[in-house]
Amino acid sequence: MAESMQGLKRTHRCGELSAAQIGETVTIMGWVQKNRNKGGLVFVDVRDRSGIIQVVFEEGKADAALIEKAAKLRAEYVVAIVGKVERRSGAVNANLETGEIEIIPEELRVLSESETPPFPIEENTKTKEEVRLKYRYLDLRRPDLQRNLMMRSRVATLTRQFLAEEGFLEIETPILIGSTPEGARDYLVPSRIHPGHFYALPQSPQLFKQLLMCSGYDRYFQIAKCFRDEDLRADRQPEFTQIDMELSFVDVDDVIDVNERLMQKIFHEVLGIEIPLPMPRMTWQEAMDRYGSDKPDVRFGMELQDVTDVVRNCEFAVFQNAVANGGSVRGINAKGQGAMPRKKIDKLVDFAKGYGAKGLAYISLQEDGSVKSSFAKFMKEEEMNALIRAMEGEKGDLLLFAADRNKVVWDVLGALRLELARQMELLDKNEYKFLWITEFPLLEWNDEQNRYTAMHHPFTMPMEEDLALIDTDPGKVRAKAYDIVLNGNEIGGGSVRIFNPDIQNKMFEVLGFTEEQAQGQFGFLLTAFKYGVPPHAGLAYGLDRLVMLMAKEDSIRDVIAFPKIKDASDLMTEAPTKVDPKQLEELGLSIEEKKN
Ligand code: AMO
Ligand code: AMP
Repeated sequence: MAESMQGLKRTHRCGELSAAQIGETVTIMGWVQKNRNKGGLVFVDVRDRSGIIQVVFEEGKADAALIEKAAKLRAEYVVAIVGKVERRSGAVNANLETGEIEIIPEELRVLSESETPPFPIEENTKTKEEVRLKYRYLDLRRPDLQRNLMMRSRVATLTRQFLAEEGFLEIETPILIGSTPEGARDYLVPSRIHPGHFYALPQSPQLFKQLLMCSGYDRYFQIAKCFRDEDLRADRQPEFTQIDMELSFVDVDDVIDVNERLMQKIFHEVLGIEIPLPMPRMTWQEAMDRYGSDKPDVRFGMELQDVTDVVRNCEFAVFQNAVANGGSVRGINAKGQGAMPRKKIDKLVDFAKGYGAKGLAYISLQEDGSVKSSFAKFMKEEEMNALIRAMEGEKGDLLLFAADRNKVVWDVLGALRLELARQMELLDKNEYKFLWITEFPLLEWNDEQNRYTAMHHPFTMPMEEDLALIDTDPGKVRAKAYDIVLNGNEIGGGSVRIFNPDIQNKMFEVLGFTEEQAQGQFGFLLTAFKYGVPPHAGLAYGLDRLVMLMAKEDSIRDVIAFPKIKDASDLMTEAPTKVDPKQLEELGLSIEEKKN
């Protein structure tokens, strides 16, 4: 039977108690973690978000009725306990923050009872994620998730404090809007008042924050919900949160400076880790050449080597073809992996094929000095030796090569490098390596659409020194765009924006927008720019990704209170759901069943 808490007031959270309170009478409220009844001696662990405290109901110290009541407590009952803090009479529990003390109770109230939960509320659970997500409110009681969400809250608070001190204004932008140009699919919301018309949910506040710059707010930020209907992965959710900002009268270095100091503050305050500034910077081209990725994990080496010139004249058709087609041959050296069995190498070949490789050529340098290779028979001995030398191959190393178009070679070796690092256990979650990637290409060729698309978005400013190339060789134009990368994850990205109408029109032209299309989609922004627009630039972080890395989790689901699963559904609320035909009617919508 549930009792009232009337007359009681919580004095401490469980985990806040320590030897400092010995002798004090305290009132705690929380959930029963566990209850051990040793006949006349009942130990009850009470848990709240701060931790666990042991309460001891003991003959001679508590009356019989109280002990009997305690013996009936079960896991997840919500209780209020008044009692005196004492030094533990039994062994100190070094695993508990409160392990030195215990509470000797004077009063126990059962505020609510609990059925047996579908899984125990404990750290490092083995319970399947589907079950945990169905009962997310119970899952969220687990200490690991509670720590993650408390950390997330702390990061958000520090961000607000820091940016406010730096003169940023927190301004909200609307959720029901027209389409934004971030390149993913929009979530649409039908309008009742305008049948056949739809709002889109924002993929980011991009256009609005640029308008705020036009309006003179000069430094804006927002912790903003964004919505993108794209395929989900461990680091992608259909709705996620950005720390979004925009600044006027600034260039690349100003944006980078304020953000480096923001990250430094967050890491110092939350993790006690000192991030040295300035953070290293690398151009996109260098990142691709050295790591095969625009978000390189620089916690380890294993860099790509371009061996195109070394193999240019060899007889091996795979290499020859790649070179002849304007591609390249590049390799990585997996140090100490020369003894990798053939079966495991074959798995790496399959892995490479998953990234578009037609194959993967290898050289295993055995400890006894012999060489095993998938293509030695096509090569002269001195050609093999030159290749091994170029790769700095030593006894015991495994050399892996991809030959193809540059993009394929980068994708394959970039992914392989990470896979090998995982297998070789080179990745340390306690190490945090930040890196800025700069000078991204402005445009990206899209084979399907047979046209250029904006690599970041259509408002990104080309680098001044490349402006002349925009007509002659648009693919070569670099942008004033930058990403902030942490341990191989893109945690944020942004750019300096175009504020010159001639450059903007040129950009639309290169992207294949007609004037009408540009006006139709972004007319209000283009018009706003006619009334005095300041030079401006900005950046947005994926808050979920940042906190995931800080919490050393592998999935952003573990730092989001109520995440969605891979098919974008919510296992707890069962959204998305069908709606009442009446609702559809009001919206002027009818559903056509798909025939297979
Ligand atoms: P961008 O599209 O790069 O830039 O997004 C910024 C950051 O948001 C995070 N992110 C995501 N996180 C979780 N799930 C997703 N589906 C997801 N998509 C993106 C990433 C990414 O770096 N308006 C621009 C920013 C600007 O130019 O100022 C923008 O949205 O960490
Ligand atoms: P093959 O002549 O097709 O038997 O290939 C000989 C070796 O080259 C095998 O180890 C293949 O996996 C490898 N190979 C094939 N295509 C490529 C490629 N594009 N890049 C690197 N290695 C390849």
